[in-house]
Amino acid sequence: ENHILTGLALHGKTCLITAGPTYEPIDPVRFIGNHSSGKMGFEIAKAMVNQGAKVILVSGPSHETIDSKYVERIDVMSAAQMFDTVKKRFASCDIAIAAAAVADYTPVHVADQKIKKKKENLVLELKKTTDILKYMGDHKKSQFVVGFALETQNELANAKEKLARKNADFMVLNSLNDKGAGFKKETNKITIIHNNGDLNEFELKSKSAVANDIVHQIIQRTA
Ligand code: CTP
Ligand code: CA
Repeated sequence: ENHILTGLALHGKTCLITAGPTYEPIDPVRFIGNHSSGKMGFEIAKAMVNQGAKVILVSGPSHETIDSKYVERIDVMSAAQMFDTVKKRFASCDIAIAAAAVADYTPVHVADQKIKKKKENLVLELKKTTDILKYMGDHKKSQFVVGFALETQNELANAKEKLARKNADFMVLNSLNDKGAGFKKETNKITIIHNNGDLNEFELKSKSAVANDIVHQIIQRTA
């Protein structure tokens, strides 16, 4: 036990964070993925540790690294693997943050051999993945649950609908409208929508500064 840390706001708390993209297998050599870098989730993990928390970081494929004895990193590939890990760990956490860009759909069949290019047109059948954030919202006891919303239209209305549907405590709305925000960028412009009706709008800033803002909102709501 590091006694220097015992005075920090989140000392003694365990935080589960999902991060990165997921890769949904098509055959042994192919997948459906997305451009999430994982940076936001990793920055939140660092900010959580800086406030004294222990972190379980469940990450899809990402080049991000984190070096802290307070972070247990669990690497996964697919949405199903991410969900399995979250299901095992969620009950033992105090705070959960869904920062991953989870695939919404996954192939119904995974070919056991490499698909050969025989057909002129190929149709892949996809099925919905489990909504991991909604699972956490629906199963929370004392946990504080945070989600993200990425919208390209009706931002606020859509984010509020997600907050309610997923039973989160607050949602972080990522604005794509501003130059310099979003995937593969170093900055984000966020609005936090709380389930108590509060709304906090933040300036465009670095992802590490955004992570600090998010963590401070969690500290205020859970104090
Ligand atoms: N999320 C999740 N599991 C999924 C899909 C999404 O945990 N299978 C989480 C994301 O990590 C994020 C939040 O749900 O915290 C919202 O993700 P988003 O893609 O914005 O919303 P969806 O509910 O997937 O709706 P849509 O993509 O249709 O806007
Ligand atoms: Ca989605």
